[in-house]
Amino acid sequence: MDMFTFSTTKSFIFGAGTLNRLGEAVVATIGKRVIVVTDPGMMSTGIVDRALNVLAGACIDATVFSDVQADPPESVVSGAAERAISFGAEGVIGIGGGSSLDVAKLVALLAVGQEKLADVYGVGKAKGPRLPLALIPTTSGTGSEVTPIAIVTTGESEKMGVVSPVLLPDIALLDPELTYGLPPHVTAATGIDAMVHAIEAYASRSPNNNPPSRMLAVQALQLMVPAIRTAVHDGRNEKARADMLLGSMLAGQAFANSPVAAVHALAYPLGGHFHIPHGLSNALVLPHVLRFNAVTAHEAYVDLAALVFPDLAEFAGQERVGAFCDRLNQLSLDCGLPQSLREMKITEDWLPRLAADAMRQTRLLVNNPRPVTEADALAIYRSAFG
Ligand SMILES: [Fe+2]
Repeated sequence: MDMFTFSTTKSFIFGAGTLNRLGEAVVATIGKRVIVVTDPGMMSTGIVDRALNVLAGACIDATVFSDVQADPPESVVSGAAERAISFGAEGVIGIGGGSSLDVAKLVALLAVGQEKLADVYGVGKAKGPRLPLALIPTTSGTGSEVTPIAIVTTGESEKMGVVSPVLLPDIALLDPELTYGLPPHVTAATGIDAMVHAIEAYASRSPNNNPPSRMLAVQALQLMVPAIRTAVHDGRNEKARADMLLGSMLAGQAFANSPVAAVHALAYPLGGHFHIPHGLSNALVLPHVLRFNAVTAHEAYVDLAALVFPDLAEFAGQERVGAFCDRLNQLSLDCGLPQSLREMKITEDWLPRLAADAMRQTRLLVNNPRPVTEADALAIYRSAFG
């Protein structure tokens, strides 16, 4: 067996109602003076107030930075880091979806004052130290609570990643109750994103694709595939919500160590230019990338398909992969997600620009099971155009 590495978050607290244990969880590790990084939508749910009450009960002083926006620009990151420094924060708590958690990671790094954002883009550039960090996801999607990655929007639309083990938090607190209020379209899009993490991690061509990541990817899909429809259409279903949150975390652990590939590479330009949410962008290109990959690299999908949908074992080879793509398509349809770029009001003349932009995601494309040229990317977008 080839050498591999596997890193993840040091400690987890999982279970309905565990937000009430935030104080005892963080007081020893994160510190007595913390900055809570979140977004305006989270503020309006009351979740942040609940967290602040729990922190106050544990005699932890907290300030709140609530200006995180989707696809956070650099100015938001630097604004939050300045707030942390002026407050004298000893630790950082991120509450929210992927954007809030990503900003929290960078605040923990930048508030130390030793590194600048412009210097840490790329793989392994951020060295630390960072402030102690706890992350509390409120969507079942990004897996940001277990990934060493933070994505920032630079300039108009381009996304850059800070990738370093130093960004892995000290604690992830996962309380499925925090996801009960997510609207169906958010549950659907973020859930498909988490499934894409598992699928791409399982089939990744990364030299660090490893047995633990593949095992986690399978378990993640076995939890999420049966749960996503219920989570979308019956948002207060405790089991479905717990399975989605646990599944998205396991998928996050998988792809944090066996990284994602062309689905994400082709999804990013859709978010960058059209502000389509990350999960929906993934859902729009997923079946088209899988069918493209399956032409020359279908082995991993053949194995995965039968592990996730046992009845597909009666089919072999390409036929099984075709059925796997159909099942995933059906899940997306049943969850009410749009199915084509045309439906998203993207015009056909944009497709070459999208293909050119996708080719810049070399960090992701190198992991794809089949090499992708710009002409391939354009063909995939044309297929996704509908
Ligand atoms: Fe993703």
